[in-house]
Order: sequence, then C-alpha cells, then structure tokens
Amino acid sequence: MSTLPVRVPTQFSIIAHRGASAYAPENTLAAFRLAERMGATEIELDVQFSRDRQLVIVHDETLDRYGYPSLASADLTWTELQTLDMGSWFSPYLYRGEQMLRLDQLFQIFRNRFIYHIELKTPSLDLPQAVLTCVDNFGLNANAIITSFHFDLLIRVRALAPQQRVGWLLKTGEFTNENITRAANAGFFQICPIARETTLDLVTRAHQLLPVRAHTVKGLDDMRQALETGCDGLTINWPDWLIHGSP
Ligand code: G3P
Ligand code: CA
Repeated sequence: MSTLPVRVPTQFSIIAHRGASAYAPENTLAAFRLAERMGATEIELDVQFSRDRQLVIVHDETLDRYGYPSLASADLTWTELQTLDMGSWFSPYLYRGEQMLRLDQLFQIFRNRFIYHIELKTPSLDLPQAVLTCVDNFGLNANAIITSFHFDLLIRVRALAPQQRVGWLLKTGEFTNENITRAANAGFFQICPIARETTLDLVTRAHQLLPVRAHTVKGLDDMRQALETGCDGLTINWPDWLIHGSP
C-alpha cells in the first residue's frame, strides 16, 4: 500500500472530512467544491446554531483558530458571521474572503450530488429537529447521515425521524463491545470509532450488528489501519488518497 491513491471497493465510503480540508479551508464552499473535483461523493461537515438560530457550518465553537480571538459562532448572528473571512487563516493567498456557509446554502448548491455526513457539533437539544427540518425541506433524507459525539442527540434524532440514518462518533477509549451493542440497540445505522482504535476483532464483532465508519485519520498510517481492520468507510482530509474500483 505504498502508492497513492489506494484502491478500495465501490461500497467503501470515502468521506471528505470537512470537505477536502487538507487542501482548502475546512467546511467552506472551496473545500466542498474541491472534494467534488477530487471525485468524492460523500462529505462530512459540522453544524451548530448561530445566535439567531441559523444552522451554520463550522467546526470550532470559538473562532480563534480561524483568526478571530474571543469570538464564538453562537454569540454572533448570521449577518455577522457571513462577514467573516474564513479562508485567510488557511491561506491568505488562495482563500481570502471565503465565507461561512449555512446548511441550506450547502444543500441548495450540491443537492443530491453528495451523501452528507452531518455532525451535530454542539449539545443543543434543538439542533436535531432543526437539522432534520432542513434535510427534509430539500428532500435529502436518503442522502443524509446524522452523526454526533452526543449520544442523547442521536436518540432524539431517532425519536423524531426513525427512518433517518444515524452514526455515533466515539471518543478515545469508547470503541468497546459494550458500545457496539449500545449503538445497535439504539437502532443506529453505524458506529464511528477513531481510526487508530480499530482492530480486526472489534470491527468483526461490530459487523455482526452494524457498519463501522472510522474518523480522525491524521495520516497514512491511520488510513491503512482503518482499511486493514475492515472498516466500511472513513472521513479523511485527503479524499484523493483513496479511489474506488479495481485497477
Ligand atoms: O468524522 C467525524 C469527525 O469529524 C469527528 O471529529 O473533531 O473532526 O469533528 P471532528
Ligand atoms: Ca466533524
């Protein structure tokens, strides 16, 4: 597995993590467009509320990393958030002026061209309904997988929309037999461990109940581990490292 891209079966989910975020500022239109140009058919993105309850696509709750110390997305209105330059922190030469997106804007642009792995980032109890309504408005239910580290929010998604696919994001130390059973009993569609924590034994055990999609791929070794332990997909900042099909 030394040359890139690595070939994987067509059913393996190659999910551009926050878009093609190794090459363009995460969660922006530039990153999602680049992911599409790289052949990705699945993207991951992070959703939280702005102060005026708009669904905004941004990972961090505070905006320090993007060049705005002491600002937080939940404290700003959409009108304020959309004036921020979300590209210069990544590269002022290539991406100055890249704007934050709302979830509905993303759907409006890409429609059913992607499978959307939508992470409910903050523990707000209203987030599941708001996201489901947005997904529903665009008729994208079959194209959406709602994910979160917040187990309770996923239970809420299941209660509000029993048909909606849900993936549980696990933190360090959480990929256990107990949690595999817990996810299956909750009716979740998939379980999402950290790539570094996947093992052949655990993935095989999980496959008796549900698919396994890995996350936190920090480099080639993590990607290889997820592939070699039999995971069904992964989020990756370098979607061009993988390609579907046989040579
Ligand atoms: O694929 C899930 C992954 O996105 C979760 O971690 O911190 O990148 O949102 P994070
Ligand atoms: Ca995420």
